[in-house]
Amino acid sequence: MSLDKKEDIQTLALDFLSVAQQAAIASYPWVGKGKKNEADGAGTEAMRTRMNTIGMEGTIVIGEGELDEAPMLYIGERVGTGAGPSVDIAVDPVEGTTLMSKGQDNSLTVIAVAERGHLLNAPDMYMKKMAAGPKAKGRIDIEAPLTDNILAVADALGKDVSEVTVMIQDRDRHQPLIQEVFKAGAKVKLFSDGDVTGAIATAIEELDVDLLVGTGGAPEGVISAAALRSLGGDFQAQLVCQSNEEFKRCVAMGMSDPGKILRMDDLVKSDQCFFVATGITDGILLNGVRKKSGGALFTHSFITVGGKGSYFQFIETRH
Ligand code: FBP
Repeated sequence: MSLDKKEDIQTLALDFLSVAQQAAIASYPWVGKGKKNEADGAGTEAMRTRMNTIGMEGTIVIGEGELDEAPMLYIGERVGTGAGPSVDIAVDPVEGTTLMSKGQDNSLTVIAVAERGHLLNAPDMYMKKMAAGPKAKGRIDIEAPLTDNILAVADALGKDVSEVTVMIQDRDRHQPLIQEVFKAGAKVKLFSDGDVTGAIATAIEELDVDLLVGTGGAPEGVISAAALRSLGGDFQAQLVCQSNEEFKRCVAMGMSDPGKILRMDDLVKSDQCFFVATGITDGILLNGVRKKSGGALFTHSFITVGGKGSYFQFIETRH
């Protein structure tokens, strides 16, 4: 069964909203405890338990690693009851594990889902990325110099170049990009971790982020692409093979040309997709999990569904 019907995709997205909430709640006790693996393990287990109650034939395409390195949510693992739509699932139970373990802002649980065979099966390696919101869709080009992209985005948004904000992960490897933004007269917004949030921010006007550029994890790239596709934005990428092993791994995963420029249709092949996230710690997109004095837990989530009737919503839930 495919995800053609609007009702099917909407229902499934709400089921996955609860998957993200459960994973964030499970990771929450580990916030600020310096234990990345424990938080990741708790989030992963909660995710898998809830996913297995959903009426779908789910396949993990981006998860916790290969079968021999991950006991749960490994690439290729089948999840769901087996009765329902056939889908590809990309998960990151804790996006920003370092942030979460240090009790810092911007860690969250993220999940992307699309029809079976419609998400790129990306290996865990680096990927060069560029993201922009709906108004700049079709105006960015990852192959062009950053300055040209800044000018194109400024034009698309009706802004002066000095008002354009470019989100970049604060890493030494990004110094040339940061200097180019300064030279162009635009602004940077640097962040320490979590480029999925940065990519989504380009599509949420209130966050005042116009472009995301940089090199980060490929799994996070595919998840971001699904979010941007649902939001009507643009995401372009290129895998960065740092060794012969990584190159061979790409080929083994079915990529005949690992260095090829990946446009939206290469990353997420249809609009029948959705993305959900729940905050673990507070962040620019979401509030973190909160425990009230009586013990009640509150979560803050983001959901965006593509295709017919596409939308995005922020949802606060009392559990
Ligand atoms: P983790 O949650 O796996 O630690 O990833 C956090 C992150 O900041 C990603 O958002 C980003 O894509 C990647 O790390 C960048 O990697 P690096 O830390 O090597 O620069």
